[in-house]
Amino acid sequence: MKDINNKVVLIVGLGMIGGSIARGLKKANPKRQIIACDTDIQALQQAVDDGVVSRSGELATLCPLADIIILAVPPLTVCELLPEILNCMAPSSLITDVASVKSHIFTSSEKFTEQELANFVPAHPIAGSEKSGYAAAVDDLFEQRNVILTPHAGNSTDSVAAINALWRELGANVLGMTRVRHDEVLAATSHLPHLLAYAIVDVLLKQEQSEDIFRYAAGGFADFSRLASSDARMWSDIFVANSAAVEKVLDDYIQSLLDFKTAIKKHEHEKLEKSFGAAKQARENFITQHFKPKKQEEMISNQLSFSVQPGGQVAGSIRVAGDKSISHRSIILASIANGITRVTGFLEGEDALNTVAAFREMGVTIVGPENGELTIYGVGKNGLQAPRKPLYMGNSGTAMRLLAGLLAAQSFDSELTGDESLTERPMNRVAQPLRSMGANIDTGESGTPPLAIRGSKLKGITYEMPIASAQVKSCLLLAGLYAEGETKTIEPAPCRDHTERMLQGFGYEVVIDEEEGSSAVIGGADLKATQIDVPGDISSAAFFLVAAAITPGSDLTLQHVGVNPTRIGIINLLRDMGANIESSNERLVGGEPVADLRIRYRQLKGIVISEAQIPLAIDEFPVLFVAAACAEGETLLRGAKELRVKESDRLDAMAQGLNILGVAVETFDDGIKITGGQMGGGAINSFGDHRIAMAFTVAGLRSESSIDIANCANVATSFPNFVELASEVGMRVSAQKSLKATS
Ligand code: S3P
Repeated sequence: MKDINNKVVLIVGLGMIGGSIARGLKKANPKRQIIACDTDIQALQQAVDDGVVSRSGELATLCPLADIIILAVPPLTVCELLPEILNCMAPSSLITDVASVKSHIFTSSEKFTEQELANFVPAHPIAGSEKSGYAAAVDDLFEQRNVILTPHAGNSTDSVAAINALWRELGANVLGMTRVRHDEVLAATSHLPHLLAYAIVDVLLKQEQSEDIFRYAAGGFADFSRLASSDARMWSDIFVANSAAVEKVLDDYIQSLLDFKTAIKKHEHEKLEKSFGAAKQARENFITQHFKPKKQEEMISNQLSFSVQPGGQVAGSIRVAGDKSISHRSIILASIANGITRVTGFLEGEDALNTVAAFREMGVTIVGPENGELTIYGVGKNGLQAPRKPLYMGNSGTAMRLLAGLLAAQSFDSELTGDESLTERPMNRVAQPLRSMGANIDTGESGTPPLAIRGSKLKGITYEMPIASAQVKSCLLLAGLYAEGETKTIEPAPCRDHTERMLQGFGYEVVIDEEEGSSAVIGGADLKATQIDVPGDISSAAFFLVAAAITPGSDLTLQHVGVNPTRIGIINLLRDMGANIESSNERLVGGEPVADLRIRYRQLKGIVISEAQIPLAIDEFPVLFVAAACAEGETLLRGAKELRVKESDRLDAMAQGLNILGVAVETFDDGIKITGGQMGGGAINSFGDHRIAMAFTVAGLRSESSIDIANCANVATSFPNFVELASEVGMRVSAQKSLKATS
């Protein structure tokens, strides 16, 4: 059921939510036939009189007429109604619901199997209010609100896509979660607050002279107790349906109340103030970042700084976060594949999460990430929907350039935007070759973002890339999947080949000629869903490789690191400098080579970096320069102009920082010369570049005094748990947040 436009929708339960769905669907498509049943005859009549519902009646009569059945009833009623609905619905019809609990359907006494519920794609709109009944229904209730789908193993990609399209038509942002995680999260964020609101009113009600108390109650009580005006039947249902998850979070809450009670009894003023202060800050963050987020581009936060104490050690065995390049590609290719792709080891960093959000915006149902796991319901090569707003790529050049290729070939228009740093990065390197394939792309001034893309029919080209850029190559290969004939890229030097490997993993033929340095695809074939296990990111591992390489006494093992030959420049260069790196347990994981790396201290010496290594170590230079600062003699890099157009001008940013630490540095238009020696401390600006921030954290291991690094928030784009892992191995780093507004 790909096109849901002319389908008859049956709404079971015409309360505030059901009524708002009916009104919203009617507004989106006035010709759509909406039928409804409810025990409230007046509500039904009102909806018919409003022209929203064309027919009302008994469930058994209406069910066989519907293509999509929406259960807008409390969670336990969903279970009660399902047997009758399954019995009388047309076999190809779909069911969805709105209940705020999702697991009970499969675990309650009336439990169903996933196969029995193959046509039921559960959903939960995070919208509503304490009001109830059809009279409170509005036609825009779901616009720009989140709706969580919790598809299960019995659902097909087509059913999931149809239910996604239905909620999308109501203006919702469709997210995906596993049902277990959904119920845990909702227990904490929605069910618990409702229970507390009911409880506080109940407590006051039972006080002596409660009338008097209510008379004097003011705004605070009204604010806190608002949720207690919610529908009593609905909420008693929710708590029974989600009892296990609620019980767990309620235990934590009760413990917290007992702790507060003790602190109050003991007059522990400071303790109370500290707890209240932390809660106040957390709430303010929630309001500004999640509840009423400012425009994304205003959110570029310089609010995080790192403070690094000199010395420390590097020992242990760790696994770094998933590879950023592979994580982006897993979402892109899985979204346009046919079938369901499971991804594990996914990097839950901001960059890759923006890519997830972009594909959700284009109608792809993506469940997760939860602990690095994602399930992507591919919509096929021509199944993406026109985005309703510009797609925000955050800090990520990779996402913007790869998506430019994919979007240039769609049947709809789109716009790609990014943060302050991305907005300064060159996009003509992809826009120009794409234009020669027939693409219609406008860049901002001087070839920078935003990109306005009008979907066009493309023709394959052979493109000799002037720079060894995997982003350019991947962009063109993605466009080539849709282009007429062959699209071939020829690279001047080998650069990362994750796109080629992953395309082959999705069953798409890529012709690679190593001698020529070319990769080619012929447009028109399909991608088949697969499983992807994302290896640890060697670009993140690099900080720890250098940390151990420069720290006397170190002994560190990095597990499950991606060692694709097009990425191991950092290992090659550190070995050239004399580093002691052992690789073991080498294996192939989903087409990508992976190994465990053990590294121990050995005095490094300066080197002249071979140009062939530059594309293989392109992201690792900031931290390699720190290694050079600790090496004996000079390290010279030339031919690396690309470093000037990364997330910052990395040649200048590193030179400035190393200078502050007292290291002798000379920069060139295309490189840098670093003379190893002693490092002092000082205040460093990372220029909002994640890799500069992490590189100077590593420098602290050998600096003589402390290093303070400003503008570190973007570390979250590639390595969200960097500070934790760095501390775990013995580095002396701490992160400080400040609530400074940045716009
Ligand atoms: C990337 C390619 C590299 C790299 C970037 C990720 C990719 O950029 O710097 O962090 O995933 O394709 P270039 O291809 O522009 O060198």
